[in-house]
Amino acid sequence: MMKQEEKSSEKRREKEIEKLVKQLTLEEKLTMIHGAALFASGAVERLEIPAIVTSDGPMGVRAEFMDDRWIPAGNNADMVSYLPSNSALASTWNPALAHDMGYVLGTEARGRGKDVILAPGINIKRDPRCGRNFEYMSEDPCLIKALTVPFIKGVQENDVAACVKHFAANVQETGRLVVDETIDERTLYELYLPAFQAAVQEAGSYSIMGAYNKINGSYCCEHKTLLDRILREEWGYDGAVISDWGGVHNTKEAAECSMDLEMSVFPDFDDYMLASPLKELIQRGEVPESAVDAKVRNLLRMMYRLKMIGPKKDSREKGAYNAPASREAILRTAEQSMVLLKNENRTLPLNAKKIKKLAVIGANAAKLHADGGGSAEIKALYEICPLAGLKMYLGGNVKVEYAPGYHVPVKPKTFEMNWQATSLDDLKNTTVGQLQRNVMNDNENHEKMEQERLAQIEKDKAEIHEKNPALFEQALALAKDADAVIFVGGLNHDYDCEGSDRPDMKLPYEQDLLIEELLKVRKDAIITFVGGSPVEMPWRDQAQAILWSYYAGMETGTAFAKVIFGEVNPSGKLAETFPEKYEDCVTAKSGQFGIEDQITLEEGLYCGYRYFDRQRIKPAFCFGHGLSYTRFEYKDLKLKVEKEREVKLTFSVKNIGRRAGAEIVQVYVAPIAPKVDRPDKELKAFAKVNLSGGRSKKVSLTLKPEDFAYFDTDLHQFITDAGDYEILVGASCEDIRLRGLVTLS
Ligand code: BGC
Repeated sequence: MMKQEEKSSEKRREKEIEKLVKQLTLEEKLTMIHGAALFASGAVERLEIPAIVTSDGPMGVRAEFMDDRWIPAGNNADMVSYLPSNSALASTWNPALAHDMGYVLGTEARGRGKDVILAPGINIKRDPRCGRNFEYMSEDPCLIKALTVPFIKGVQENDVAACVKHFAANVQETGRLVVDETIDERTLYELYLPAFQAAVQEAGSYSIMGAYNKINGSYCCEHKTLLDRILREEWGYDGAVISDWGGVHNTKEAAECSMDLEMSVFPDFDDYMLASPLKELIQRGEVPESAVDAKVRNLLRMMYRLKMIGPKKDSREKGAYNAPASREAILRTAEQSMVLLKNENRTLPLNAKKIKKLAVIGANAAKLHADGGGSAEIKALYEICPLAGLKMYLGGNVKVEYAPGYHVPVKPKTFEMNWQATSLDDLKNTTVGQLQRNVMNDNENHEKMEQERLAQIEKDKAEIHEKNPALFEQALALAKDADAVIFVGGLNHDYDCEGSDRPDMKLPYEQDLLIEELLKVRKDAIITFVGGSPVEMPWRDQAQAILWSYYAGMETGTAFAKVIFGEVNPSGKLAETFPEKYEDCVTAKSGQFGIEDQITLEEGLYCGYRYFDRQRIKPAFCFGHGLSYTRFEYKDLKLKVEKEREVKLTFSVKNIGRRAGAEIVQVYVAPIAPKVDRPDKELKAFAKVNLSGGRSKKVSLTLKPEDFAYFDTDLHQFITDAGDYEILVGASCEDIRLRGLVTLS
């Protein structure tokens, strides 16, 4: 019955869309398929077709921008909730929280009057130095999929479109506007596409953003294979494809493939590729008008689904931003995102009752991060930093003393770190229009900017070196006579930032030196970090306790304090490998990262833990690792192959400590003697199990035939070979607790 109803309402919708398409003039249609403001498409008032209003971004709804200048409008009514970054969300391994965060983002976007929120970013983390890794979830497609689907559903429950990005394989920032990535088909299908496919097919994402980069010679925003064959034909997508801002390069190519809405960073809207240049091509008969109709249809369909047009216009969700209820979910996510990397001698949790004087050392204790990172920046209603969180938790009877410990050169909040604005800024003296694009694409300009950036880094280093001795001394003195010492260091959005990649994987500001000194003075110092991507920890063996927090949103400090003092038992696990040193990474070996024009993803499937597994390289902390204040025991794995080659798995997990906690149990599939080369093992299922002290639970999970499959390039489809597969159940990708064998016929 339901199916029938759905079908007829779809039919009605398509009929209405068709009617509108017929009524629209060519000019009106063109207005709809390109930006008419920096974050909105053109409206057709005559037919009551509104503009599509978009906004960044993934960690909250970005501040309002001017319509025609790449600068914030500067009003005070656009502060919003600051959500945990996707890297934080991913380390919760909690699909329910992913739904909650999607819901909060969606309701805030709608509350701010947006139609499309440019999130979530779900690119595979290929190299730990990628400047935008903090915006992405993981190196593993199974985990990304599991979180992306509920996230998008949560967003769209608010009548706001998710715009899942960046399709596809936007794996680095260096040369991101031009880089051509050579990727073999199997790697594309097994690693870089699955989460996008799930976003489209399972979550029904109303829109998707084409990436800047090229894949195998074509720009993603005008890529026939990617947008027409894979997205539309193979996946049956009927939503809207939106370009990344400035990602369309060629009018004819973009016109003739499934690129529906061209957006850019320039205010010369009439000169966008899908504006006047397209009109000319149509008038000259070089592109059929039907190409425009197809785009308009996809956009109208999205608008219909969003209740921007059509019979349900009056029942559209109105959203709400800064609702106090949202903060609860944000806090819960932050709490579950923190990853306890090391904890010897039960150094953590600290007993608040035994502390009269607490030394907090490190600039990230007091640093606010919301306002940085590029398009993920937001104007947060508030942000509780770790130092504030600790003070709020302990109250006035404990002396909390703070020393920055190391020098962080102040970067005035200009747009230097954001190419979008930089390119505009550099253009002040040029005329608008095509000229701007030339400058943006002008390599000399890029090179100049890059040289300036590197020179600035050297200058900063000298400044840091000069100022640090005094700061070290102050911090070490403070550490000596405190009851407990917490170091809060890490990265910030000068490093985790859109538009550039990190130069290396080292902690900046000479933090390693300080930590080494600190651990000599206080071997019980708790070493904690806020950052968006892995760092080397050469002093790791000396530290007793290490806690990692990604950018975890407005309640970071609250969650941090609760974890430190044991009110929250940490349950986050790494969604990416933390290598011992950058040289251990596959991209370091191949040198195929960060080259401006062309890179080859030579490693194929051997990205992240798949590579570390195969090469038997031990990372500092492996994929899936994360400790708890309690311990868990795994037992009784039972496997049953059912009809249709489904494998039912059961095992029990017991909390063998006293404290309640949550364990993320991970299931990896390891093919035995596969017919083609395959990674040693791959994550295929997981669950987060809550257990009070002493209790145990039976976990049941199902592996589907596709969980055993690989992509056969000859047949151009996934196939599941008959044969033996080992099923590994573990607490991390290294810590395998249970093993079993299944034979698929
Ligand atoms: C980024 C996108 C972002 C867009 C709009 C681009 O530079 O890559 O992620 O949504 O700008 O700000």
